[in-house]
Amino acid sequence: LAVVDIDLEGIEAGSRITLKWKGKPVFIDHRTEERIAQARADDNAPMIDPEPDAERVQRPEWLVVVGVCTHLGCIPLGQGGSDSTGNWNGWFCPCHGSHYDTSGRIRKGPAPRNLEMPPYEFVTGTLVKIG
Ligand code: FES
Repeated sequence: LAVVDIDLEGIEAGSRITLKWKGKPVFIDHRTEERIAQARADDNAPMIDPEPDAERVQRPEWLVVVGVCTHLGCIPLGQGGSDSTGNWNGWFCPCHGSHYDTSGRIRKGPAPRNLEMPPYEFVTGTLVKIG
């Protein structure tokens, strides 16, 4: 589907869900205060693809990214309670070892860019339209 609506109500802080948009997985992370703080604390750390966390989210508690590794397109681990979240507590791509942080930024490994953000908007308090 080109446009997908998702109601975020009921997704608890700390939970991550995956949905399909244009045949690709989209990861939605209801970030805890801790994950937000980790992302923001690292804004000035050395980065492969420097980008402040605030430019990657519309609301700090909701990270919405395309779940496709920017190296060669594998789907990173870290969703659904997986503890394979990599060295920065975000996502880990097992294909060639790319580590993404809690903002979906590439921190280590061969991937050249941060996880992409799909176009999306909050239609109401909890309803999001992706695409
Ligand atoms: Fe993810 Fe190569 S496809 S590290």
